[in-house]
Amino acid sequence: EDIPVITIDGPTASGKGTLADVAAHALGYVVLDSGSLYRACALAADREDIDLNDANAVAAIGANLNLSFKRGRVWLDEDDITDALRLEATGLMASQVAAHPAVRAALNQLQLNFRRLPGLVADGRDMGTAVFPDAALKVFLTASAATRAERRHKQLISKGISANIESLRQDLENRDARDKNRAASPLHPALDARMLDNSLQTIEESVELLLNWWAETR
Ligand code: C5P
Repeated sequence: EDIPVITIDGPTASGKGTLADVAAHALGYVVLDSGSLYRACALAADREDIDLNDANAVAAIGANLNLSFKRGRVWLDEDDITDALRLEATGLMASQVAAHPAVRAALNQLQLNFRRLPGLVADGRDMGTAVFPDAALKVFLTASAATRAERRHKQLISKGISANIESLRQDLENRDARDKNRAASPLHPALDARMLDNSLQTIEESVELLLNWWAETR
């Protein structure tokens, strides 16, 4: 396809979402937060009391997800799930269902549908390796576990949610381990990905670097 794609993959809380949003805004591109689809699928399955280890049952839920994105909020059927989506517990459930190949297959088409003109910035774990292997620019975004735990901590505090930084770090390292070690589309940089460690960078610096790389590919 001729519709340009930029992929941003990397571990939990590395800043992918923010980088994707700001870059997409600067370019006037569509943005895909693929993690939110895995999160929504896990929430939907959990609500129906489906065992998250039951790959086929969760995949059936994933194939029939009735999601809508309105005014910065996300709706599942009649429910506003925006806040529930962001919970740490939801992230953990998402990484559980994301390990099933059948669930990944069910969510694949949904993700491809986001590829629309004038272009797409997609963030996740396997955007450059599996979903958009022909992306013109692939970024693998990392940051130290300490930095990521600190950022997540600040994010939660700013929302009035109290959190323990040590347990946050433990949770994100557990989730990363599961994402890296699974057989289906594990988290790893694409061979042609550009590595970006943003531990010591401001978001403005990361965006500038990404936009420079993008200009080089044009
Ligand atoms: O990025 P986010 O934290 O929202 O993702 C939640 C979980 O969904 C991840 O830990 C990962 O297991 C899964 N995921 C995935 N592939 C993606 C995006 C997210 O497996 N492209």
